[in-house]
Amino acid sequence: MSRFRMGEWVMLTSQKGKKWYVKIEDAPFSTHLGTLNMLDVVGKQEGDFLETHKGAKMYLFRSTLEDYIFTMNRPTQVIYPKDLGAMVFYGDIQPGHTILESGIGSGSLSLALLRALGGQGRLVSVEKRPEFAVAARENITRFFGEHPANHSIVVGDIQDFGMTVRADRVFLDLPEPWHCIPTVSGLLTEGGILVSLSPNIGQLQAMYKDLKHNGFANIRNFELLKRDWLIDERRARPNDRMIAHTGFITVARKTPVVIPGSMEE
Ligand SMILES: C[S@@+](CC[C@H](N)C(=O)[O-])C[C@H]1O[C@@H](n2cnc3c(N)ncnc32)[C@H](O)[C@@H]1O
Repeated sequence: MSRFRMGEWVMLTSQKGKKWYVKIEDAPFSTHLGTLNMLDVVGKQEGDFLETHKGAKMYLFRSTLEDYIFTMNRPTQVIYPKDLGAMVFYGDIQPGHTILESGIGSGSLSLALLRALGGQGRLVSVEKRPEFAVAARENITRFFGEHPANHSIVVGDIQDFGMTVRADRVFLDLPEPWHCIPTVSGLLTEGGILVSLSPNIGQLQAMYKDLKHNGFANIRNFELLKRDWLIDERRARPNDRMIAHTGFITVARKTPVVIPGSMEE
């Protein structure tokens, strides 16, 4: 990997794992651990470290997408890595797919989808609030260094979305996702996959009914719990605290037929 250059961003990481995402320029950067001259980062390699004026070691890394999501501007609730990983995998994204997403929020899910597309295919993100569309675009541009050519952001309501898109996948993170199911159902290719994140359990039942009535089958709902562990020379036990709940994930497949009637087996 190339050495750090002037103007790029570095993830300064303390020995305890605290992180700061900082631009490399001719300026000091200070934390409670002391001050670094950011110019000293130029020419270093990833994994090298610098010492602050207080003697604290700061490792130098390029940001992972996980790191980036925790440091970027977040004007809305975002989807966190635990759920992003599952959504990308259960959505079975392949390079070349056309993906329709709504809403874009801060762009966390869009970043994960664009990463999975690997510069191929296309992501269309529909967001009704222009200020969030701008904020997400900035986050995405800063991460990739430029706004990816295969990403379009459409400002509008997904329920009235009128563009002709033949989507292989649909991803939703909306307060009332069921309202847009008739619209996105008509845009999703047969056999295509819809993935939705819902923070509240009531959303799942409303979703279920609308998915059933709009030609979806194999409807699954689940949540993921992640428990961190403290492992060092003295301790090997779960962390005292955990994030108990983020959201429920719904995965469903589009079929050409609407089967009237009752519950899934
Ligand atoms: C929780 S945020 C999405 C966060 C995003 N998935 C992320 O990871 O950063 C929900 C977004 O949906 C947008 N939204 C709500 N209803 C919408 C609709 N009917 N059409 C388009 N966007 C909508 C909101 O403005 C908000 O930006």
